[in-house]
Amino acid sequence: MLPASAWLGALRTWVLILAYGLLAIPHLLWIAAQALRGADGSFGSRLGRALAAPDALRTGFDFARAFVPNLNLSRRFITAYDNRGSALVTRYDDVKDVLRRDGEFAVVYAPRMMAVTGGHNFFLGMQDGPDYQRDVSNMRLVVRRADIAGRVAPFLHDTAAALVAAAGTRIDVPQQLTQRVPARLLAVYFGTPGPDEDQLIEWATLVFWYLFADLKADPELGRRALTAAAGLRAWLDDAIRARKAQPLPVDDVLARCLTLQAAGLPGMDDLGIRNNLLGLIVGAIPTQSKAAVQALGQLFEHPAALAGARQAALCDDDEALTRHVLEALRFDPVNPMIYRHASCDAVIAPNTLRAMRVPQGTMVFAANLSAMFDPLRVADPRSFRTDRPWSDYLLWGDGLHSCFGAHLNRVALPAMLKPLLRLPGLRRAAGAEGRIDCQGTPFPVHFRIECDPV
Ligand code: HEM
Repeated sequence: MLPASAWLGALRTWVLILAYGLLAIPHLLWIAAQALRGADGSFGSRLGRALAAPDALRTGFDFARAFVPNLNLSRRFITAYDNRGSALVTRYDDVKDVLRRDGEFAVVYAPRMMAVTGGHNFFLGMQDGPDYQRDVSNMRLVVRRADIAGRVAPFLHDTAAALVAAAGTRIDVPQQLTQRVPARLLAVYFGTPGPDEDQLIEWATLVFWYLFADLKADPELGRRALTAAAGLRAWLDDAIRARKAQPLPVDDVLARCLTLQAAGLPGMDDLGIRNNLLGLIVGAIPTQSKAAVQALGQLFEHPAALAGARQAALCDDDEALTRHVLEALRFDPVNPMIYRHASCDAVIAPNTLRAMRVPQGTMVFAANLSAMFDPLRVADPRSFRTDRPWSDYLLWGDGLHSCFGAHLNRVALPAMLKPLLRLPGLRRAAGAEGRIDCQGTPFPVHFRIECDPV
């Protein structure tokens, strides 16, 4: 028999879920009314843009978790990948369940991965199996978690500090810092600088957009992304050839790949090395830049948290700083939803009142942003707290395909933001310049902050 306090706790949680759901209704109506009054584009496109803002998305998910936690729609929201309709999953347990049942809810990216590599899949586009396990294992042998503390972290800290110091009292965060740091890490640690830094950033960003965020299959974007992919492939092919012709006395990821090749490891021929490095480069730059910018944006939205993060940065308390940065990202994660394709008829949340049958071919949106605000699993979800268990966070997926760079991200995001947070008088630039500007892309392009002279 459960004690009375447990019943009371459960009752309180359910009251909270219903209250958040009811409170969401006026907020959503207000968003719709604002969209009705706008002038740019159709009502539908204005509403879609407004609902994609992080606080609007969180509100929409508050409503869904309370009243329609699992929702099946016949409409196809994604046309870039084959599907017969869509389903939305919003509760923490169900989001994790979908991401972990990779046999039933499969990744969809293979056709575009193959277009990007010129014919081969990359492991994020694969189902579990020998090829997936071979490629992930090979990449873990060359991109080692053991490198993070002693080699990668110091490089990231020094690089970010130097970029911020060079910027003076005004800095355009993505342009001058958060795109540059991952690109420089790839140059030095991976041995893949690209023809130049700007070109590498542009290629990676376009290809990432095409693979993961071009949901409507825009032909113009497709053309630009495939041109970028061809450029990146050709550059990597040349780099591998040159390194083999003239090995360098360095211990970088490319050198390690060639060592594995010499040892005869399956999957590490030139093409295998190239495609794996291509996938990692594309996964690393736009994601880390976007995550760092959005975390900073959320710190500005939460002034007490910003003060806490600044204090942690000034005291060199990297553990506290990491907690502030990742908690900030919880409010506006890079991927608010992760999508999967039902490879067979399946039931989500089986044996519960919210059980939902999804037919084979359905595109299932597992809303990890919503999961991280589910009061059933996350304590006091609307508060900015730095004492949460790490299991509350679903910032980089879950299950088979959870992010290859997860451990790197934990170090890289605080490292990039630390020198900014230490600046005296840190503030947003005035007006629109001090807001994240994506210029119609899925990625922050400008976000200007200012400080007092150091
Ligand atoms: C803060 C930055 C990052 C975010 C927010 C992020 C997010 C994610 C997410 C959500 C997934 C799961 C995708 C899915 O299940 O469909 C994922 C997978 C992946 N990420 Fe990241 N990522 C980041 C940085 C990186 C970095 C730095 C790398 C490379 C070093 C990387 C490489 C990958 C790869 C290869 C996968 C596929 C893993 C697999 O299939 O086993 N990511 N990432």
